[in-house]
Amino acid sequence: MADIVHLNGKLMPIEEAYVPVLDRGFIFGDGVYEVIPVYGKRPFRMAEHLRRLQCSLDKTGIRNPHSDSEWIRLVGEIIERNGGSDQSVYLQVTRGVAKRDHAFPKDIRPTVFLMSNPLVTPSPAAIEAGVACVSAEDYRWLNCDIKSVSLLGNCMLRQRSAEAGATETILFRDGKLTEASSSNVFVVKDGVLYCPPKDHLILPGITYDVVIEIARSREFQLEVRPVSEAEVRNADEIWVTSSTKEVLAVTTLDGKPVGDGHPGPLFRRMHALYQEFKREQMRPAA
Ligand code: PDD
Repeated sequence: MADIVHLNGKLMPIEEAYVPVLDRGFIFGDGVYEVIPVYGKRPFRMAEHLRRLQCSLDKTGIRNPHSDSEWIRLVGEIIERNGGSDQSVYLQVTRGVAKRDHAFPKDIRPTVFLMSNPLVTPSPAAIEAGVACVSAEDYRWLNCDIKSVSLLGNCMLRQRSAEAGATETILFRDGKLTEASSSNVFVVKDGVLYCPPKDHLILPGITYDVVIEIARSREFQLEVRPVSEAEVRNADEIWVTSSTKEVLAVTTLDGKPVGDGHPGPLFRRMHALYQEFKREQMRPAA
């Protein structure tokens, strides 16, 4: 089926979607985005994604061009037009088109773009065996809570793991765990689950919130507090989470086994609970 995208109020085949070269998204990376997983044609945690979108827009001073009900309609439309049951909807808002000048131009219309791709979650083999990660110093800017399309730092850091044949790059800033290049990170030690708090150094992941919600409701021992690099390197388990990876076990970090080198018992439990949570939320019995 043809990829149908939305650009500034119109649906069109992706090959016909163009933005002017003076779009500030192109010139400055001046825009924000969301990636929303869709299960059984239903967007997962839509309200939370729209809330985070509003935060990113507020922090960057970009006008939200749509109300929540309009966004829900636009996302629904893109899901319908792209057919598949499980999709990953990408939506992006840039500040708009204007003569190049760093300062924000007044009265310009934000550019709105939505597309959908088939949702590719980790393979059964990756869930069973876990994945490799490498680590790096987190040299990104200090507004990582904004879901900005300015992702050069993230892309350069991700490239390091790609070149090592690994799945993610886990990041440390000043000896503390932040997140990974496109995921959040949890660690387990002696049966306790740890993750860094939501602040300006990490993206407030929607999946991170779901994992914490499940952990609290199922009485996992959980501590949300700064996690040191040494704690990550000595962890029994490491997990990465994101809308597309869901919850995934990391079984080697920089070539060294994590714990016994296999996905741990807390991961297996959380992975099963996450799947159950999705089923309950997304596919209620007809
Ligand atoms: N990435 N941290 C970063 C830097 C991310 O880019 C992402 C998501 C996450 C996890 O957030 P969530 O659980 O809301 O997906 C954490 C998306 C999937 C992407 O850029 O494709």
